[in-house]
Amino acid sequence: MKDKQKQELIEAAIKMTALSYAPYSHFHVGAALLAKNGTVFTGCNIENAAYGPSNCAERTAIFKAVSEGVRSFEAIAIVGGAENKKGETEIKDFCPPCGVCRQVMSEFCGKDFKIILFDGKSSIKEFTLAELLPESFNLL
Ligand code: THU
Repeated sequence: MKDKQKQELIEAAIKMTALSYAPYSHFHVGAALLAKNGTVFTGCNIENAAYGPSNCAERTAIFKAVSEGVRSFEAIAIVGGAENKKGETEIKDFCPPCGVCRQVMSEFCGKDFKIILFDGKSSIKEFTLAELLPESFNLL
């Protein structure tokens, strides 16, 4: 994957933090999912008063893609950070995907699927899904 493409994916994820609906945690997450056909599906976290129905940014992006008929993916960029007093997202560290999102990735993405994290400064970390979810449970 080219550096420029990686940067664009990170930029798209950062933009999505502005759409995060997180009135409970005040923690904004944005994700940008690159499909193998070149399409980018974006997502943000969407919380709920009952907490349980909340959805992470990664799953929002994956479910948007699958519901549009796309199931082959190459990479996802994820960023997150707490909301400041002005309502802006302050990305101060890496935001690795939660366990539920890793499991959802394993349903649709191969072992080499790339997970790209950005710390809001200058560092990028990149993992494969196999690295973040070894010995995953799958029935297919
Ligand atoms: N969150 C995500 O959207 N993705 C992650 O990988 C970790 C957590 C969201 C869920 C919740 O809305 C907020 O961040 C705080 O946990």
